[in-house]
Amino acid sequence: MLWTASFCLLLASWSVLGAPANKQKQKVLLVSFDGFRWDYDRNVDTPNLDKMAKDGVKALYVTPPYLTITSPTHFTLLTGRYIENHGVIHNMWFNTTTTEKKPYYQTQFVNEWWDNGTLPIWITAQRQGLKAGSLHFPGTASSYQGQVAMVREVEPLLYNYKNETAWQENTDKVMGWFRDQDLDFVSMYFGEPDGTGHRYGPDSPEIREMVKQVDRTVGYIRHSAEQHGLSDRLNIIITSDHGMTSVYRDGLVEEITLSKIPGFSFTDLSFHLVDYGPSGMLLPKPGQLEKVYNALKGAHPHLHVYKKEDMPERLHFTKNDRILPIILWADPGYVINGYFPVQFHKGEHGFDNEEMDMKAFFRAVGPAFHKNLEVGPFETVNIYPLMCHILGIKPEVNDGHLSVTEHMLATSTRGEFTAD
Ligand SMILES: *[C@@H]1O[C@H](CO)[C@@H](O)[C@H](O)[C@H]1NC(C)=O
Ligand SMILES: *[C@@H]1O[C@H](CO)[C@@H](O)[C@H](O)[C@H]1NC(C)=O
Ligand SMILES: *[C@@H]1O[C@H](CO)[C@@H](O)[C@H](O)[C@H]1NC(C)=O
Ligand SMILES: [Zn+2]
Repeated sequence: MLWTASFCLLLASWSVLGAPANKQKQKVLLVSFDGFRWDYDRNVDTPNLDKMAKDGVKALYVTPPYLTITSPTHFTLLTGRYIENHGVIHNMWFNTTTTEKKPYYQTQFVNEWWDNGTLPIWITAQRQGLKAGSLHFPGTASSYQGQVAMVREVEPLLYNYKNETAWQENTDKVMGWFRDQDLDFVSMYFGEPDGTGHRYGPDSPEIREMVKQVDRTVGYIRHSAEQHGLSDRLNIIITSDHGMTSVYRDGLVEEITLSKIPGFSFTDLSFHLVDYGPSGMLLPKPGQLEKVYNALKGAHPHLHVYKKEDMPERLHFTKNDRILPIILWADPGYVINGYFPVQFHKGEHGFDNEEMDMKAFFRAVGPAFHKNLEVGPFETVNIYPLMCHILGIKPEVNDGHLSVTEHMLATSTRGEFTAD
């Protein structure tokens, strides 16, 4: 009896000393709503996003890495690396020898495309004794140095990304993973409002309805966390991969169509990746680089043409063998067509990440975060070291800095590991 009592006392005091309140094991849920532009809450009533900002932290906006498209920018969220450093340089896997290309969904299953030397946070967390999961997040289907997220779900081909009931079911499923399997980290992906932004444009009534759906879901996520008894341990970060801007249509402007440019010929190329929004990459045939470059440079006032090695350093889109020798990008409103216009979206992304329309939103709430704090903009590479810090794991080499996001934390000395 006495022994039991003093043993308990010992345990109690050990847990007080060894695990003070601010070192309690904390969980992180990273949520991405694809294509949620930083200012989408401005002309829409968003009570749940507003409440989340009051209860936690809101950034004015966050800057995704260039190229501002889905898979590359999501892999930056998971790794804290710029795209040239993690290697997932496009939504599409391609082989310049065979000229084969795979679309977004099929590329999810190309292991070598994703596993190119950088470990996503799931694997790092698991190697350090934590448990990680992922639902629909780009990169989930692949393995990394032979390892996968412990609990994972990949959406089927032809998935309906807009179904609000499914969003709620998925939310409850993820909260179940946290509670019943004691996961420490989960990444969760929603394919909207990107689809609606492409189809109807970022200024449409349809996008405002979808923003309301996102807002309701944000409320649902927080409600579900509470229902599952996770509120005191779970930190919820909600962000996005990029923004969206309106595309100008023919008649209003002169579209960019490469085949119409004098002196340019597709026969001078051995491979090209165009007709993919405002960006493109070209591999000229041996000896044709200068010819192709000179034909395109200055050919259209809204087309930027760069040799790979001359790319502005701020874009961090040069130092990777997968990036092709000539890089093209268009100004907001324009897309790059190859032989003739085949792109009819009303909204697009993939533009320069300095453009305000490419910026994404960021909210965070939970025991690790300050309440009712609005912070200035930061680059999304900095979310990774922040998450590692909250989880108390040692980050891999990355391009982010904890010092950039640390001020959002209620206690800045929580984690064992400090990245800088
Ligand atoms: C591209 O295909 C060629 C021919 O099949 C092959 O030798 C090469 O390894 C492939 N490259 C990549 C990066 O997959
Ligand atoms: C990354 O992929 C390229 C081919 O695209 C390959 O040459 C290189 O060895 C890969 N690096 C690692 C570390 O997997
Ligand atoms: C939406 O998802 C729910 C739950 O998974 C399903 O029962 C319903 O059939 C779906 N509706 C549509 C229109 O896809
Ligand atoms: Zn998109």
